[in-house]
Amino acid sequence: MNEVMDTLSSHRSIRAYQDRPVESKVLDQILKAAQAAPNWVNLQHVSVIVVQDKARLAKFSELCGGQKHIAQAPVFLIFCTDFYRTWLACRDHGQEFDSVVSQIDNLIVGANEVGIALGTAVAAAESFGLGTVPIGNIRLHALEAIRELNLPKYVLPMLGLCAGYPAENPGIKPRLPKEAVCFAEQYNQELSGFLKQYDEQYASYLKERPWNSRVGNWTGMAADFYKPPYSHYPEVPAMLKQQGFNPGTE
Ligand SMILES: Cc1cc2nc3c(=O)[nH]c(=O)nc-3n(C[C@H](O)[C@H](O)[C@H](O)COP(=O)(O)O)c2cc1C
Repeated sequence: MNEVMDTLSSHRSIRAYQDRPVESKVLDQILKAAQAAPNWVNLQHVSVIVVQDKARLAKFSELCGGQKHIAQAPVFLIFCTDFYRTWLACRDHGQEFDSVVSQIDNLIVGANEVGIALGTAVAAAESFGLGTVPIGNIRLHALEAIRELNLPKYVLPMLGLCAGYPAENPGIKPRLPKEAVCFAEQYNQELSGFLKQYDEQYASYLKERPWNSRVGNWTGMAADFYKPPYSHYPEVPAMLKQQGFNPGTE
């Protein structure tokens, strides 16, 4: 092991923070790490909006479905897929952009890049002793979030990230057995035994944490989460259309 591995393997999401600001030097390092991450053709399709104003943190807490940790966190970073800069570049070179950006692969590119940047930011933040939690619910009221953030066309609010000094130690959440996730040479579809094994481990993990609202086991949780009719973020199609992505089937 080394220090980087120690940090990465002790990850756990933190949803309660000390009343202590994140130093601007530390924040700069986190943003620097996120910007240094690999990206598609070096076109750099990610922007991060740093929210620290208390009233705006409270507003985002409400917009994200009343998640109290957003209001409590000293910093909320909003990671956006951003094709605005590449649009400016193409426009300045006399090129049309809408038919390009609406190709569905650009959404994959944008989602990849936000994920890589956010993951890097999490690792950087944890290396400074901060706790974080990603917030997918920034897409719950995506259209209002876009207005709050003054996002131009071709920019999508993809993920939030709360960061602050931890005021809880929730412990490390067990992951699926490696054999169910990492394969040698070819995919192994015979996963039932591994899932059963994980169900047992997950059930005892949840039992040890009575404050955790999710009961049962992992397969039960997955089935419950994806129970039809499924519509976790119903505003997403309208968000894509409004922001110029409007993906067809190309
Ligand atoms: C894309 C993404 C979106 C998430 N959205 C939320 C969220 O809106 N609220 C929340 O409390 N946690 C959210 N999480 C945190 C996950 O619930 C958490 O990472 C997962 O349960 C594993 O737990 P751990 O991070 O403690 O290991 C999100 C994580 C990811 C990667």
